[in-house]
Amino acid sequence: MQDFSGRTAVITGGASGIGLGMARAFAGRGMHLVLADLDSALLKRAEQEFADAGVEVVTQACDVSKLEEIERLAELTLERFGGVHVVCSNAGVGLPTSARNMKLADWEWIINVDLWGPIYTVKTFLPLLEEQEVGHINATSSMAGLISSQMMGAYNVAKHGVVALMAATERELRAKKSHVRASVLCPGPINTNISQHSVDFRPGGGKPKGDSKKAGKLAGNIQAALEQGMQPDEVGELVLSAIEQEKFWILTHPHWSKGVQKQLDALIDDQTLTRA
Ligand SMILES: NC(=O)c1ccc[n+]([C@@H]2O[C@H](COP(=O)([O-])OP(=O)(O)OC[C@H]3O[C@@H](n4cnc5c(N)ncnc54)[C@H](O)[C@@H]3O)[C@@H](O)[C@H]2O)c1
Repeated sequence: MQDFSGRTAVITGGASGIGLGMARAFAGRGMHLVLADLDSALLKRAEQEFADAGVEVVTQACDVSKLEEIERLAELTLERFGGVHVVCSNAGVGLPTSARNMKLADWEWIINVDLWGPIYTVKTFLPLLEEQEVGHINATSSMAGLISSQMMGAYNVAKHGVVALMAATERELRAKKSHVRASVLCPGPINTNISQHSVDFRPGGGKPKGDSKKAGKLAGNIQAALEQGMQPDEVGELVLSAIEQEKFWILTHPHWSKGVQKQLDALIDDQTLTRA
């Protein structure tokens, strides 16, 4: 898609971090915005920012793990703007815990938000894009969607699922010779508040226990990496440019893919699992 001005972008998890970065990039190209997020206070702040800048924006409190809330988001978008052109399924959460000790409630929460969210979004919005015969649907996975590190079991499962969902979708669109495109964003460390938001939204609140010492150390390392990470506005510009160039894989840290290459080489050479 090359023509953005006057068209409409829907972004879940659009009130902060990477989603807000995408919203800023799209608004910079004259797009109208529909921002959905679980956090109403953050949504209000984002709405104010764009309204002050003269951007046409609507916001909706929405839990992406509920199909009916995604369907309501689509209805609101059509009512307000009469069409939808770019959809970014981006809301996500994640906390480190070992696969062995993660509570089932945490597995369900992470997979419901990080995988069912994108599935519901594709299911609801893709037919609308196809009807228009123009548009782009993107979902945010992670480098954790390409290689599974320890202590991030549920997150890895969900993010691998997102890569599979978007790759299947893009191949199906190409097979139909559709003008609609799909893509997947696989960020490395980005400087956002995902760790704190995940603690806040976790069912029952607070950090998971179980293997607290190891998980606590990893959470500290992750936080330090995020704080040194790429700025979310830069990611937004990368996504915009990838949509423009019809790229499928959107990588913020392409050099990190060496680990993926090593894993593939070992898979073919001697079938061992690399250290990640
Ligand atoms: N920050 C990173 O380093 C990084 C790296 C790889 C992938 N990601 C992915 O990027 C995406 C955006 O995360 P971020 O880093 O910008 O974090 P963030 O916390 O700043 O943004 C995520 C947004 O999703 C919202 N959200 C959480 N649960 C929700 C739900 N059930 N329904 C609707 N909204 C919900 C939060 O309120 C928040 O505004 C996530 O999918 C995350 O997994 C982030």
